[in-house]
This record gives sequence, C-alpha cells and structure tokens, in this order.
Amino acid sequence: MNDENTLNALTQALAARFGEEVAIPPGLEGLDQLLQMASQATHRAWAERAVDADLVRLLAACALSAPTKSYLQQADIVDIRDSAVRLAVESLVPSMPWMKTAPALLLFCGNGRRFRRIFERRGKAFTNEHLDGFFNPAVDAALVMMNFIRAASAVGMVCCPISVLRDQAEELATLLAMPEHVFPLAGLCIGWPLQARSISPRLPLEATLHQDRFEERRTDALIDSFDSRYLAVQLSRRPAGSPAAQTWSDEKAKQYESPQRDDWGRFVRRQKFDLR
Ligand SMILES: Cc1cc2nc3c(=O)[nH]c(=O)nc-3n(C[C@H](O)[C@H](O)[C@H](O)COP(=O)(O)O)c2cc1C
Repeated sequence: MNDENTLNALTQALAARFGEEVAIPPGLEGLDQLLQMASQATHRAWAERAVDADLVRLLAACALSAPTKSYLQQADIVDIRDSAVRLAVESLVPSMPWMKTAPALLLFCGNGRRFRRIFERRGKAFTNEHLDGFFNPAVDAALVMMNFIRAASAVGMVCCPISVLRDQAEELATLLAMPEHVFPLAGLCIGWPLQARSISPRLPLEATLHQDRFEERRTDALIDSFDSRYLAVQLSRRPAGSPAAQTWSDEKAKQYESPQRDDWGRFVRRQKFDLR
C-alpha cells in the first residue's frame, strides 16, 4: 500500500473504531504499523494451515522482548502441543469451539516463582509478599500476550485470547503441572485467518482519553452515544434471523448479571500469593 492509501485506510479504520475522526499529524513514519494496530480484530475461525513450533518460538521470542516490571521477567508462555494435553485443556471450555479448531493453543502465565527462588537460593526471606507481588506478573503476562498478538499479526496470523480458561483454573493448573506462584492469565488461540473481520467499535475517545485529570461528568452521555452506535453497527452486520441486537450496556449488564469466576481469588491464594 502506498503512503496515501495507508493514510486513508488508517483514517477509515479509526473512524470505524471510534465513530469520530482522529487527526493524523503529517509526516509520520510507521503508518502501516498503526494501521495494523487500528484494524486489530479477534478471530475465531481458522484457515487449514498448521502453526509450527518453530514459528511459535520466533513469535514468543519477539513477544518476550516486551518491557518487564523492574526487569523481573515474570511472564511465561506454554505452547500446548501434546494432543492429549491439548484435548484435556480444550475440554475444560466446551463453550468455545474455536479453541478446539485453532491450529495452535498457548497459555500466558504470570510467574512469581523465579523471583522468589532468587531469595530462597540466598537463604533470604522474601520481603515483598503482598498484592503487588501478584499484580506485577499479571501485568508482565498481559504485555507479553499483547506483544505476541502484534508479532502474530505482523506475519499475517490472527488470535483469540481465552480468559474463560480461568473458570477452571485449578484443573488447568493440575493439567499443566503449574507450580506455586504461577497462574494463568489467558489462553491464546492462534492461526491463519479464514476470513476478514470487521472492526469492533470502541467507546469514544472522550470517555477513555483524559487530559490532565479524570473527567466523568459526561460518562453516562458518552455510554449512551456509544450504545446507539454499537446497536447500529450490530444491526448492519447481523445476518437475517439472528437474535435481537442489544446495546453494549444491555449486553454487558446481561453477561455479568450473575457472578463470574468468583473462586479466582481462592485459586490465587492456593498458589500461595498473599494478596494483602
Ligand atoms: C484478556 C482477554 C480475554 C479474552 N477472553 C476471551 C475468551 O475467553 N473467549 C473469547 O472468545 N474471546 C475472548 N477475548 C476477546 C474479546 O472478546 C474481544 O477482544 C472483544 O470482544 C473485542 O473484540 P475485538 O478484539 O475483535 O476488537 C478476550 C480478550 C482479552 C483481551
């Protein structure tokens, strides 16, 4: 794509995402990368093309080059290749068949174990047993997962994160022999795209990009305007005969009307994190 086309495509992608124009200052380099980020979409259908372990290794190496809190390197990736283990993991989440059909499945984990081991090997007490000791590996793992998604996208691949695996955290930990102070952040299905996916809208930037201080006076109005845009997008995309489209707020209120994963804290404490 030439520069002019990339610029136009980026303008359109951001307009589709945010429902508003996002100015692009002239003379910028790297618009192709911004276009890739702005067009990011989760995929749940896969072309029939295998994903070799070597390719995963390359993408993992790029992903693990992400910044890491205090240089502690508290994120790990499990490439689930053994067919028996893969089947057992998939069967934890029968509600997500795209996990079963994905050419490869990874698990991104926070790992607070190596950090503690450094203290053990020196015979020193670990003095940072509190919530931050759990939060930091979670953040590192999230950055590594996002970096993996970007690396995959750079080579034309697509992904679907699977945090629903955490609904079965204990079973998952047992299956993958997860030691204490290690926890799953999310699975990641990866493969090659079967079809193009449209851009899913996001809240207007006025709701999520703040200037100097938090501004909440217009939150309700901004959610209402997003709801209208979301509903219009759903109606324009739904095949005839689909269940009635809902606003984003209605969908989320319905999705979370009953408690979800309320045993996650128990699992994290079982992994010996102290969440003070
Ligand atoms: C941490 C995280 C966990 C997610 N877990 C799931 C999941 O369990 N199953 C699923 O189908 N999609 C999952 N997703 C994908 C989201 O549903 C998706 O990003 C969201 O609907 C917005 O769509 P988009 O990524 O195409 O813009 C997850 C995304 C993130 C970032």
